[in-house]
Amino acid sequence: MSSARDTLLAAARDAANSAYAPYSQFQVGAALAFDDGMVVTGANVENASYGLSLCAEVVALSRAMNEGRRGGLVAVAVAGLAAGEDAVMPCGRCRQMLSEMAQLGGTDPLVWSGSGDKAVEVSLSALLPFAFGPDSLREG
Ligand code: THU
Repeated sequence: MSSARDTLLAAARDAANSAYAPYSQFQVGAALAFDDGMVVTGANVENASYGLSLCAEVVALSRAMNEGRRGGLVAVAVAGLAAGEDAVMPCGRCRQMLSEMAQLGGTDPLVWSGSGDKAVEVSLSALLPFAFGPDSLREG
């Protein structure tokens, strides 16, 4: 029996096959697990204007938001096809984007990446302490 972590990482690896990454050749997949058991995946989408590229986490997050999800995010797995066992950690922008969904539902998702000796498990709040979020916009 594989653990929840291995299952979500496998979903992220699968998703990476859908990446459009002709410039970096670095195909990344992300899988978001929600408290109702559903998983939403995404893969990076690059652009000839390189700086416009979208990370896998942002694509997955956008899909989840468009499905109407507003919270309930319990875990995030990220996998890079070329990374082997190495962890691929969410970039700063992705941490902020993921944090929005986490804060909406008051969860602190675990972030999983890598495997074997390179496996990483860390909370999103550890990756993005003192996060800016929806509450920061409230007065007082
Ligand atoms: N990338 C992701 O999709 N997620 C990450 O966590 C790290 C980086 C993508 C962006 C770009 O398409 C490629 O990896 C190389 O940076």
